[in-house]
Amino acid sequence: MSQKFANSLDRILTLELARVTERAAVAAARLRGHGDEKEADQAAVDAMRRELNQLPVHGTVVIGEGERDEAPMLFIGEEVGTGKGPRVDIALDPLEGTTICAKNLPNSLAVVAIAEQGGLLNAPDVYMNKIAIGPGYPAGLIDLDATPTENLKALADAKGLAINEINACILDRPRHARLIEEVRATGASIRLIGDGDVAGIIHTTEPEETGIDIYLGIGGAPEGVLAAAALRCIGGQMQGRLVINRPDQIERAKRMGITDVNKKYTMEEMAQGDVLFAATGVTDGNMLPGVKFIRDKIITSTVVMRSSTGTVRWIKASHVDRVKVPLV
Ligand code: FBP
Repeated sequence: MSQKFANSLDRILTLELARVTERAAVAAARLRGHGDEKEADQAAVDAMRRELNQLPVHGTVVIGEGERDEAPMLFIGEEVGTGKGPRVDIALDPLEGTTICAKNLPNSLAVVAIAEQGGLLNAPDVYMNKIAIGPGYPAGLIDLDATPTENLKALADAKGLAINEINACILDRPRHARLIEEVRATGASIRLIGDGDVAGIIHTTEPEETGIDIYLGIGGAPEGVLAAAALRCIGGQMQGRLVINRPDQIERAKRMGITDVNKKYTMEEMAQGDVLFAATGVTDGNMLPGVKFIRDKIITSTVVMRSSTGTVRWIKASHVDRVKVPLV
């Protein structure tokens, strides 16, 4: 970690980041439960972009809304910030769990991670096979190349529990039929989630609160990098491998600097050096309450973290609702 980054940038930015995810979360939450994923996502993107452009950084979006030709805002490669601060890489998802927000179901988040330039894996928008557990276990306890049964057994042994006391979180998708069958055959239980595996992975860090001990399965690669950034700060173990089958995906990965498309990434390889992470709840979740609109006030709940210190701050903020009380 460079001294400059350690001493000045991140201390200020950690708290500044809360504003970025708060704004995006409030914008999305105004459209929560309206059934329109695109509208809620667009509102979150607009709000996050406005706020990011006030940050005193020379930022480059490395995980964003898509490639330049498909995403007009917060596309990969877009420069954000005032341009006056240090160069940083930014991974973001203004509305993680667009469908769950549109349906007002639990665990949609506004999410951002910042690292020194080159610190975040430039993952293409493909799938990633992921495994994650929380902190406090021996290094290498779980492995993407071990079977789910082996991983569950290793975790149960480390926790001093029987396998049937372990709860895995898996995205509810047809592609996971065999995985689900194998996990259930061990006796472990599964929380099947409709969407939102950034939250699913973060939930492994507080199993007593969330009831989730391990995350398994295939979700988005960009979400994998965001989750790795969070786990770098809170602690835990995670591995990911891109799921790349088609020639155009190989091409895209190469354009993003990935030469070995079968590489198994450690958490540290996905998010290196000093990393900052922030998430604000949009809908109520296991770890973060969603945005509340109470008369002319808005209440947001945010977690901000910094890997170099391991500080995790929970920020409950009350804002004047400027839609109801305009500035005069
Ligand atoms: P969006 O916010 O882009 O809708 O992503 C939600 C999500 O569930 C992610 O959390 C997850 O990584 C990914 O979609 C899984 O993709 P798919 O829905 O194609 O299985």
